Amino acid sequence: MGGNRTPGKSALPAGPFARYGPRMIRFGSLELKSNLFLSPLAGYTNLPFRLVVREIGGLDLCTTDLVNARSLLERNPKALKLIESNDRDRPLAVQLFGSVPEEMRDAAQVLEAACVQSVDINMGCPVRKVCRVGGGSAMMTELGRTQQLVGMMVNAVKIPVTAKMRLGWDDDNLTAPDLARALEDVGVAAIFVHGRTREQGFTGRVKLDGIRRVVAAVRSIPVIGNGDVTTPEAAQAMIGETGCAGVSAGRGAFYDPWLFRRTRCFLDTGELLPEPPFAERIRILRRHLDLMVEVFGEKFGCIQFRKVAPWYAKRFGPASVFNKRIVRLERRAEFEEILALYIQWRAPFCDDAGALLPRYRLAPMIASFLQADDSPESTRREAIPVPRGPVEVW
Ligand SMILES: Cc1cc2nc3c(=O)[nH]c(=O)nc-3n(C[C@H](O)[C@H](O)[C@H](O)COP(=O)(O)O)c2cc1C
Repeated sequence: MGGNRTPGKSALPAGPFARYGPRMIRFGSLELKSNLFLSPLAGYTNLPFRLVVREIGGLDLCTTDLVNARSLLERNPKALKLIESNDRDRPLAVQLFGSVPEEMRDAAQVLEAACVQSVDINMGCPVRKVCRVGGGSAMMTELGRTQQLVGMMVNAVKIPVTAKMRLGWDDDNLTAPDLARALEDVGVAAIFVHGRTREQGFTGRVKLDGIRRVVAAVRSIPVIGNGDVTTPEAAQAMIGETGCAGVSAGRGAFYDPWLFRRTRCFLDTGELLPEPPFAERIRILRRHLDLMVEVFGEKFGCIQFRKVAPWYAKRFGPASVFNKRIVRLERRAEFEEILALYIQWRAPFCDDAGALLPRYRLAPMIASFLQADDSPESTRREAIPVPRGPVEVW
């Protein structure tokens, strides 16, 4: 792929279901209303965030953060909090990680009994702590062993079991196609594939041809493409150029929870909805905080919100005052004070109707795989920010 594509102008024709897969998709016995998915993001894809993206719409199946199978079996309170859900959070997949087949099998059964709709297996995590014990990306290096483990899980439950992987450990070991096929043979219902290797981390471009090879390797199960999908056009290009059955977005949904709704509309009708106005962003931000407080309590909910709000602010235009104050948020009521102050501070950057003056407007993000080959942007890790912290090499 090459060529610098202008945002808003796709290389592929848009149109109702044309080449982008039907909106309905099936994972084994589970029928889904959308082929767009929320990727698991440890520390972020908790119940409040899932409810926010569901309320905005465009997707159906959401996945939790990764959960340690053994901790789940031990009823560790932190693991139980990670799978907290409610009736509005359906259908739900829980992502498990671990390398002991019996533990993974038993954890899948626990999830089935807890009325979870699907179980996903983490095979993409590059974090040393996870790989050292044979989990995450390490599973991609031992096909036979991984196939056996997954087969045990599939045979133990009726709900679909899916696998989420990278293209391989490194460029010399692109095992995803063989692994995907091996897992299909033991009954996996779908494959999610991030178009980078473990060695790449988050740098470099997402390789659409790598995803295409996984699509070509399986017989009939859906392959869901993943990596750098930040706009409806990027989703369309990934589907059109790889033949994948759908796409999954993670970081793109952080700063734009409207991504799925806009992409759904674009794939179905060809219409590119505008990005939401500031007032709508604030409405959803407030809703997100309320859900955080509801689920985590006021103190911890506010602390958690400190890392969420700056993502929304990335699309506010000038936001230094907001960011400085929000990272010290302690009480729900304080949020309204910060907001009132910020709205006043932001006014000079806006016209009379409250829209940002043209020079402060932000260009849409461009996915790495839609940038020119020689663009420095396409190879920089910061092209889409990765949150700092222990999972920064996910
Ligand atoms: C902060 C963070 C946490 C992540 N946590 C998980 C996880 O728990 N399980 C997983 O399979 N992938 C995890 N990932 C990888 C994402 O699911 C996704 O594959 C990757 O970010 C590429 O997609 P994106 O460009 O749409 O974000 C994480 C990524 C980030 C940045």
